[in-house]
Amino acid sequence: MAHLFESFTMGNLELKNRFIRSATWDATADNTGKVTAKSLEIYRKLGGGNLGLIVTGFTFVSLSGQAGYNQYGIHSDEMIPGLRSMVKAAKINGSKIAVQIMHSGINSIYLAGKNMESLAMSRMKNVSRPHREMTEEDIENIIHDFATAAVRARAAGFDAVQLHGAHAYLISQAASPLFNQRTDCWGGSPENRRRLHLEIIRAIRQAVGRDYPLFIKFGVMDDKEGGLTLEEGLETARQMVAAGIDAIEVSAGVGQASIIIRAGEPEVIPFRERAARLKQEVSVPIILVNGIRNLETANEIVHSGDADMISLSRPLIREPGLLNRWQSGEQVSAKCISCSRCLRIREGEFLKCHQEPIFP
Ligand SMILES: Cc1cc2nc3c(=O)[nH]c(=O)nc-3n(C[C@H](O)[C@H](O)[C@H](O)COP(=O)(O)O)c2cc1C
Ligand code: SF4
Repeated sequence: MAHLFESFTMGNLELKNRFIRSATWDATADNTGKVTAKSLEIYRKLGGGNLGLIVTGFTFVSLSGQAGYNQYGIHSDEMIPGLRSMVKAAKINGSKIAVQIMHSGINSIYLAGKNMESLAMSRMKNVSRPHREMTEEDIENIIHDFATAAVRARAAGFDAVQLHGAHAYLISQAASPLFNQRTDCWGGSPENRRRLHLEIIRAIRQAVGRDYPLFIKFGVMDDKEGGLTLEEGLETARQMVAAGIDAIEVSAGVGQASIIIRAGEPEVIPFRERAARLKQEVSVPIILVNGIRNLETANEIVHSGDADMISLSRPLIREPGLLNRWQSGEQVSAKCISCSRCLRIREGEFLKCHQEPIFP
């Protein structure tokens, strides 16, 4: 029977256990996207946290795709030395580290805050902040930016790249009929709405080869009427795997807020059923995220065959050492109460748990 604290292989990546720190924006980069001393402090703590794999906070592939304040960038070679230090900090205890790369598309609090234009799959009548529909050349440039970012990731020493294909950012917008109403080859039919996913994967594979581990956090369906359906998302997943994706982390597409669970209430694992469906469709490892707060639940999910790996974000904000506690046999629930207050990071602030001092 699978043991969560035994090694596991994801693509070509040998991990010391089946636990992942899901990508988490910490707002510690400097104003140009560079890693800072504060960032390294966080990654050193995570490195001591006994994780199989640490995924960085989302990292923009081009300036037009910056989503948040003090977000990490991987858009220029100047970012590489800082990212290399981050890799070193995270690997002190045998964890592997992946960088999550993304473009925000129309959905950028950073650009909106500066009243700067964002790039959209389609013009949105109900969105007042400045944006414009991308030309085909814009799209080709962004595909190229993703591929160049993957080359930089490898140069910085990351063990893998994770595409951010969820949470209503550009890749998720391309898949969703709610954001993508284009009539050229990038919109309309399901084939056209998954073209961006497949072209990014192909461009990355061409740039870094078949062996470099590449996976995706994927909003396999939208939770809004008229959005991406599960059946269509499953077909996109099948095609992404055929194009060279090594694992899939199942998360929200358009329209799903983080789940808030009050202290003492049972866990709610909103994407478990979707993960189980995906596992029947593709042969690569499936990673489940959102709401998992107990080792017992994590074990049950993997043993039931609904997912292969367990991913955590908020519990590790409150307790970076949670897995050490769980592995030593102390199996009480994570201390995070899923209030999601840590998500509300204002400009000039760092990520912190509002229930306890920063990174206890
Ligand atoms: C402060 C904060 C920052 C986040 N940043 C990212 C991010 O950069 N990329 C991403 O894919 N998800 C991000 N998420 C979502 C988490 O990775 C995760 O999917 C979500 O919190 C649900 O998992 P959990 O219940 O274990 O927290 C963030 C969540 C929080 C709370
Ligand atoms: S603020 Fe703290 S307790 Fe609330 S969700 Fe974030 S990490 Fe968990």
